Amino acid sequence: MPARIVTIAQQKGGAGKTSLTAHLAAAFAGQGHRVALIDIDPQGSLTAWAGLRPAGFDPHLNLSTVSGWRTGPEVERQAREHDLVLIDCPPHGETAAKLAVRAADLIVVPMQPSPLDLWATRATIDLIAAEKRPLRLVLNRVPARGSLSEAMARELAETGAPIADATLGNRQAFAAALVEGLGVTEYEPRGQAAAEMNALAAELLGVLAPARKR
Ligand SMILES: Nc1ncnc2c1ncn2[C@@H]1O[C@H](COP(=O)(O)OP(=O)(O)O)[C@@H](O)[C@H]1O
Ligand SMILES: [Mg+2]
Repeated sequence: MPARIVTIAQQKGGAGKTSLTAHLAAAFAGQGHRVALIDIDPQGSLTAWAGLRPAGFDPHLNLSTVSGWRTGPEVERQAREHDLVLIDCPPHGETAAKLAVRAADLIVVPMQPSPLDLWATRATIDLIAAEKRPLRLVLNRVPARGSLSEAMARELAETGAPIADATLGNRQAFAAALVEGLGVTEYEPRGQAAAEMNALAAELLGVLAPARKR
């Protein structure tokens, strides 16, 4: 199976791009996939997380940090040696992020289910649509109690963007795992956060399964 490239993009900062990239990578790697991470955000949070991974920790995650036009060649290089390449984007659509969206088999867009976040996400949805790439919105930090308001659900539907069935709660484990260089599936394999991340990983693999002609 050729490598699948998954770009985690969202022009709104703090939506959960880096968290999602790290936890998904750990979940996929734990299932035996060879996973490469590419950090194209100059803030370097994903790089910092990978640096905290315990020495010799298995599964190993290969991380590279790149910027600008180097993104394309680096994605191709990593795709030759891995099953999945996950790219963490900066919160603005400059060169590297556009290249990462263009190269992707799937773009994952984390979003908190609030009106302000939804409105801010439209620019990202438009950018992905302009590149004609498949995407999934992933609702992140979903409040424990109560489902989305009807108005919020309607606004979401109006974007026309497909929403992943799996959602992520607002859980302390998502942050606590990262400080140790781990994903939630490694940090607390039987916890709720891990169950949510495994469900999301499985759903995204299902979306990626039919080979796209590149
Ligand atoms: N599901 C979640 N539950 C709790 N905290 C979260 C969750 N997702 C993200 N966070 C926290 O929100 C903040 C922003 O997340 P981050 O992944 O850095 O977003 P981005 O990369 O989009 O800027 C971080 O402090 C992170 O730990
Ligand atoms: Mg980030």
